[in-house]
Amino acid sequence: MSVSGLDPDRITARNSAGIEIRLRFARNEIGERNKRGEGANAPVFRARHEQLEKDIVVKSFSFSASETQRIIKKSVKSVESLYFLSSVFTRPDPNIMCFYGVVIHPSNSEAFSSKIEEVNRNALFLTEAISPTMFYMLYELIDGSDLHDIIYDTPRDIDIDFRKYGVELLKALNKLQKAPIILAGKTGTVAMVHLDIKPSNIMIERATDTLKLIDLNTVCIPWPVKGNGGCDRNSMTLEYTGPEATPPLFPEIFPPPLPTDKRTILMASDIFAVGLTLYEMIMKKTGISITRDIIPYNEYGWRDFFRNKVISGEELELDFTPDKEKWASLIQDMVKLNYRQRPTAKQALDRFNEILAWEEGPGSVALPVNQGGGKKRRKTVRKNRPTKSRRRNRIR
Ligand SMILES: Nc1ncnc2c1ncn2[C@@H]1O[C@H](COP(=O)(O)OP(=O)(O)O)[C@@H](O)[C@H]1O
Ligand SMILES: [Mg+2]
Repeated sequence: MSVSGLDPDRITARNSAGIEIRLRFARNEIGERNKRGEGANAPVFRARHEQLEKDIVVKSFSFSASETQRIIKKSVKSVESLYFLSSVFTRPDPNIMCFYGVVIHPSNSEAFSSKIEEVNRNALFLTEAISPTMFYMLYELIDGSDLHDIIYDTPRDIDIDFRKYGVELLKALNKLQKAPIILAGKTGTVAMVHLDIKPSNIMIERATDTLKLIDLNTVCIPWPVKGNGGCDRNSMTLEYTGPEATPPLFPEIFPPPLPTDKRTILMASDIFAVGLTLYEMIMKKTGISITRDIIPYNEYGWRDFFRNKVISGEELELDFTPDKEKWASLIQDMVKLNYRQRPTAKQALDRFNEILAWEEGPGSVALPVNQGGGKKRRKTVRKNRPTKSRRRNRIR
């Protein structure tokens, strides 16, 4: 079934370099567009990208006319960051979902313009077929499950080796914090932030057993590049946010950070989020309770979390028995209340690799094989997707 008017099932859009993309959306028996997922912000559809001859995902953003300028302003910064971070225009990173461009209505092309001309020329695809109060971000389709489901829905008797994914997550973080960028013909690197790292924004691709960071619409460069003003976002999910990077909701508990070094703070918050995610992967314990997870932005849950786990000095329920001790101390450092005491992404990756080498070598006796130690550890990724109702019950 096809609909006429705006947002039809077939859309052709063109960039200013003259490249055309043709998208084709499929519908199910009851006439709805085939959805691949839905989070708090925007539905994610599956569509055919006819030039690339593959299925992709289209994250569809729509908003009220009064919000248009504000949302576009933020999105331009993500578009220009993703262009260099992991895209078909530069080079896809194996651990970061690949970006294929943004589809916009021509009336928004001015508002969507980046100061980086190359990005405008290649990544902005214009079409009259969608409304001026929406746009589409196009990404690689990942066939697999998200890490939240893998951690929490896998039967207990199946032992998954999360260490491989841990390395890949830290590699993705390193790439973010040192992303290659070419400006005016010069190659360099720039720090970017994700701002919403958590298990439900990480997928494991089934065929390649590879970790991919998703939900990239908050990625930005946290200081001005070529006059773009830097990004002015806050981290998105309070439970995974370093306390220094949140709005001062509870100044009695968390005094505002000393200097307004936004860049350092946002980068440190990503480290905190990765630390909590590693905690859930390696320690197989929830960093946040299920009831909190299903209530978006529950500041009370967040406050309790820090009060009980971090401020009281108890921190997380880390396992300091000999076989887990090295992991425990790395994770503990990554979620330090004081962001200046957290390791950098590079240091965290180096420490992670050292622990792996220790486990494979001198430490191997500490991990009995049946608990997944040594090289014989069995890797299993769950095949079945959880039921729809389970998936709906939590924020992304
Ligand atoms: N590239 C992708 N490939 C496959 N599924 C995806 C992809 N991106 C998102 N999804 C699915 O859609 C869900 C919501 O996407 P996400 O970008 O996290 O949205 P939100 O910003 O609303 O949280 C994900 O949890 C995942 O199940
Ligand atoms: Mg999400």
